[in-house]
Amino acid sequence: MSNSLHITPLGPHIGAEISGISLAGPLDEGQFAQLQQALLTHQVLFFRDQPINPRQQRALANRFGDLHIHPVYPHAPEAEEIIVLDTHDDNPPDNDNWHTDVTFIETPPALAILAAKQLPPVGGDTLWASGIAAFEGLSPRLQQLLAGLEAEHDFTKSFPAHRHNASPAEYQRWQEAAARNPPLRHPVVRTHPLSGRQALFVNEGFTTRLPELPAQESEALLAFLFRHVTKPEYQVRWRWRWREHDIAIWDNRVTQHYANADYLPARRVMHRATVLGDKPFWRAPA
Ligand code: SIN
Repeated sequence: MSNSLHITPLGPHIGAEISGISLAGPLDEGQFAQLQQALLTHQVLFFRDQPINPRQQRALANRFGDLHIHPVYPHAPEAEEIIVLDTHDDNPPDNDNWHTDVTFIETPPALAILAAKQLPPVGGDTLWASGIAAFEGLSPRLQQLLAGLEAEHDFTKSFPAHRHNASPAEYQRWQEAAARNPPLRHPVVRTHPLSGRQALFVNEGFTTRLPELPAQESEALLAFLFRHVTKPEYQVRWRWRWREHDIAIWDNRVTQHYANADYLPARRVMHRATVLGDKPFWRAPA
């Protein structure tokens, strides 16, 4: 029987700080089950003082499933599944927008694990928003309208060509990635495959349009939803507070996040592992 995790909720809708576990080594069945349950309940979990190297981070992520290899972001030399987000004045961040990771593929990630490696002296917080709370915050009539609708997601919205043409090799990599990832559709409201809960599943980073609606209606409705999902009521904000070795794990099926880019010209380095998920679907609640 494993020890119980200590779980401190950070708000009513989203976020909890977890202690009583070490993420660098193998987790026993009991710890893993508690982590999964906490993720379903709180959607994003935070852990202090968890030194972890890329191989250990990959092993932790593999416990949850197969990993995604990002088509354009660089990776750690010893583990191609570990993305290195190394941002500074010469490489400004591109994730200071509200996004759900990698929704430009058929089976967007179920979860992601982010480890802080180098932090700016101040700033560089990350914010997460709950798509479940956002959906539940809509009126029943608007919920009905959205349920069953589809949205288009496009890799090139967050990864435009002009940001990936510093060298011929980088541009070729981008071209191949764009060809392999044409725009595709996901439901606007998604049913969580484990909890059955409904979540808003459009994000400003990758969602381009609602193809079943006329262009003006699609534009207006998406603009409203992008704004709605980011209401502070649905959010949690993590202050990494100069502490390398913090880790965040989030359920990418029902959340979106924003990396605050207020720290330049300081440098910030984060490592991310991204666990592949299932094909999003919407099912009417029983
Ligand atoms: C991400 O956008 O996936 C990483 C967030 C961060 O760097 O804080």
